[in-house]
Amino acid sequence: MYRSRITGTGSYIPEKIITNFDLEKMVETSDEWIRERTGIRERRMAAPEEAASDLALKASKAALKAAGIKAKDLDLILVATVSGDMILPSTACILQHKLKAKHIAAFDINAACSGFIYALSVADSYIRAGIYQRILVVGSEVLSRITDWQDRTTCVLLGDGAGAVVLERSNDDSRGIIDIKLHADGSMWDLLHVPAGGSRMPASEKTVKERMHYIRMRGNETFKIAVRTLAKLVTDTLKDNGIEPEELALLIPHQANHRIIAATAKRLGIGLDRVMLNLDRYGNTSAASIPIALDEAVRKGRIKDGDYIMLEAFGGGLTWGSALIRW
Ligand code: UT7
Repeated sequence: MYRSRITGTGSYIPEKIITNFDLEKMVETSDEWIRERTGIRERRMAAPEEAASDLALKASKAALKAAGIKAKDLDLILVATVSGDMILPSTACILQHKLKAKHIAAFDINAACSGFIYALSVADSYIRAGIYQRILVVGSEVLSRITDWQDRTTCVLLGDGAGAVVLERSNDDSRGIIDIKLHADGSMWDLLHVPAGGSRMPASEKTVKERMHYIRMRGNETFKIAVRTLAKLVTDTLKDNGIEPEELALLIPHQANHRIIAATAKRLGIGLDRVMLNLDRYGNTSAASIPIALDEAVRKGRIKDGDYIMLEAFGGGLTWGSALIRW
């Protein structure tokens, strides 16, 4: 069996900043409420001409450069997103074209905020099985296009961005992706969903009028399940692999809510100094949040060779998952 290793990371954050004070002018909210309940101060918004594949392209180029390979060296492209360029074709195919990565396989994965970990698991499996050697795994979201800017319960949370990694085959058994755990519970699909625009409720005058093409979330219920579920997930991940919390160099959580992240770290028994946090600047970017945070951690020198790091996420589906990596 082979093992897979992340050999390059990259990210792209759109230029336009929307602060909590900007949101105070749009909906009945306050900077204080948003900071205290979520930890978010500002988020980014893609330019009108930017779609998910454009953000993905910039993040991917940075990841390829960091890995020291060209797009033509890739065997597969995976994009995790819930806000792709269009329903058909996949954003991965559009990205493949933009990268000029001719004829290699490309497909999207929809597991909402857990999408990047799901995609990483697919890529890791292909590499372990010896099918592919070099895979580009991207999380890219332009959530601002599916956000209801009149709904204060969701619009203060979300942001746009993209992150990417190059995953490569390695013969070194002691390094790379050690374990990935994936879970889902479809019985709670309606906690976090976009009602219209799919085959159940195609676009019509009524769906547009009733604002049904935007994300709807039952935040407080989602919050409670997330805290409970992630506490078990992260402790199980370490225990199953015989790793003690003090051996974990960095936790890179999905950036949904500072209170969820703090509760997860507390349960693990690690301080916030060993947790990668950037949601104050970017908000919740769904499938993009982990690869963006990972790229920032790498570029800031927070991860060293041989370090154990853990990625974890929880989101719509419901879906949740973790990845234990030895860098
Ligand atoms: O990304 C993956 C999945 N998503 C998550 O993990 C997000 C999970 N949920 C959360 O992060 C939190 O539930 C929220 C940040 C969304 C909300 O925080 P909360 O502490 O659960 O608040 P709540 O929904 O219970 O609302 C408390 C109050 C309500 O008012 P009343 O009923 O107490 O009068 C809301 O109407 O806060 C009100 N509220 C707001 N007030 C000011 C809700 N949104 C806002 C707002 N500004 N933006």
